[in-house]
Amino acid sequence: MLAIKSEHLNKKYILKHRDKEPYHALRDVIARSIRKAGKSLVGIKDSNPSREEFYALKDVSFEINEGDRFGIIGRNGAGKSTLLKIISRITQPTSGKVSIKGRVASLLEVGTGFHPELSGRENIFLNGSVLGMTRAEIKNKFDEIVSFSGVERFLDTPVKRYSSGMYVRLAFAVAAHLEPEILVVDEVLAVGDAEFQKKCLGKMKDVASGGLTVLFVSHNMAAVQNLCNKALYLKEGKLEMTGEKDAVISEYLRSTVDSSRADLRDRKDRKGNGIVRFRSVTLRDEKENVVNSLQSGSGGFICLGIEFRNPGEQAGPLHVSMGIDDDLGQRITHFNTETSGTVFPAVNGESAEVWIHIPRLPLKHGNYTFTLYCTHAGEISDWIMNAGSFHVEPGDYFGTGKLLPEGQGKFYVEHSFQLKNIS
Ligand SMILES: Nc1ncnc2c1ncn2[C@@H]1O[C@H](COP(=O)(O)OP(=O)(O)O)[C@@H](O)[C@H]1O
Ligand SMILES: [Mg+2]
Repeated sequence: MLAIKSEHLNKKYILKHRDKEPYHALRDVIARSIRKAGKSLVGIKDSNPSREEFYALKDVSFEINEGDRFGIIGRNGAGKSTLLKIISRITQPTSGKVSIKGRVASLLEVGTGFHPELSGRENIFLNGSVLGMTRAEIKNKFDEIVSFSGVERFLDTPVKRYSSGMYVRLAFAVAAHLEPEILVVDEVLAVGDAEFQKKCLGKMKDVASGGLTVLFVSHNMAAVQNLCNKALYLKEGKLEMTGEKDAVISEYLRSTVDSSRADLRDRKDRKGNGIVRFRSVTLRDEKENVVNSLQSGSGGFICLGIEFRNPGEQAGPLHVSMGIDDDLGQRITHFNTETSGTVFPAVNGESAEVWIHIPRLPLKHGNYTFTLYCTHAGEISDWIMNAGSFHVEPGDYFGTGKLLPEGQGKFYVEHSFQLKNIS
C-alpha cells in the first residue's frame, strides 16, 4: 500500500536582493556568489537583477510504501527540508503534487509545529488534536510524552522560553508518541545531546517496527543505515537516486568524495556573513610539499585558503574550525582555534592561509569528509557542511610494520604494554 506518492514536484523560491533583514541578507550572499561564479544555475530565468527565481526542488517523483523507513540524504541545500515541509503541508509545491495516506506528525526545524506562546502542556494537546486525536486519547499518552521529553518542570512555561534542546526533546516526544501513521523527522536531532539522540533513534526504530512509515533526514549515514530500509538521494533539487538504503548511501558517499576537487568559491550551500570565506583546501606532507592524501602515523598539514570580501574593512579576530567525519558521517574529531587556544587577532588583507599542523596522524586509512566553519569579529562568517573530503593512506603508525586490523577501530592511540606483578 502506498503511503506517499510524489508526482513531478517543483518548488520555486524567489530570491530578493538588497534586503536588510538577516535571513534575506544571507540569501543575498548566496545569490551573489551564484552570479559571481557565472555558473548556469538551472531555473534562473528572471532578468530583473533584484529578483531571481530559484528551484529548490526540480521534477521530483517517488513512491513510499506504508511501513517503509525512508532516509533522505543529500548535501546542504539539496532540498531535503523543502521536501519534508511540502509533505507536512507547511509549504505548497509550485507545481506537481503529493498524495498522502495517513496522519502525518512532523519534527522539522525548531520553530515549526509548536505555538511559541503556548505552554508545553498546551502544545501537546494542540498537536494531538491536529493529528485528529480526542482529548481522552491524548491524556492517555500524556505522561509517557512528558517522561520521555524530561521537561516535567517546564510543562506550564511557554515553549518560546525553552532552550533549543528542551524544545526538540518535547517536540520529538510529541511526534513519536501521538500515534501518527507517518512520522517525518528533519535533522533537528542534531541539537540534542548524544544520549537523547540515541534515545530518539531507539524510539523511532520501535515505532517503525509497529508498521509506521518514517521519513528521516540526516547527515549521519550510520543512523540512516541503522534506522532505514530505503533511501532517497537529492542533489541540487533533483532526485538523484532512490531504492534500497545500501545502494543509495554508497552512491551518495561516492559522489561526495568526488567533490573534494571542487573549488569552494563555487559553493552555494554555505551560511554566514561572507566577510571571510573559505576558498580552497590543500594537503601537505611534513616537508610542506602538496600531496593528494595524508598517511596514518605521518605528520602533515591541512591548509585552508581563505579570502576577505572587503580587504579595506575593519579587521577583527578570526576563529576557524574544521570538523572531521568518517565515511558514515559520524563526527570523528574537530580542529578548532578556540579549543586549541589559538587566536588570530585582527586579521585582514585579500587572502590568507590557515595551516593546521598534525604531527602524527592517528586516523586509520579511509575517506574522511569535513565541515568548515569560521567566525570573524564574533559573527559566523562562513560555514560549509561537507565542504570536501580527503583520503588517508595506510601507514605504519607504530613502526612495527603492522596496521590496525580491519574492523578493529577507526584510529590509532599511542600506547604501550607492560607485564607487571608476576608471582
Ligand atoms: N524560504 C526560502 N526562501 C528562499 N530560498 C529558500 C527558502 N527555503 C530554502 N531555500 C533554499 O532552497 C534550497 C534548498 O533548501 P533546503 O530544502 O533547506 O535544503 P536542505 O534541507 O537539503 O539543506 C537552498 O538553496 C535554500 O537556500
Ligand atoms: Mg535542511
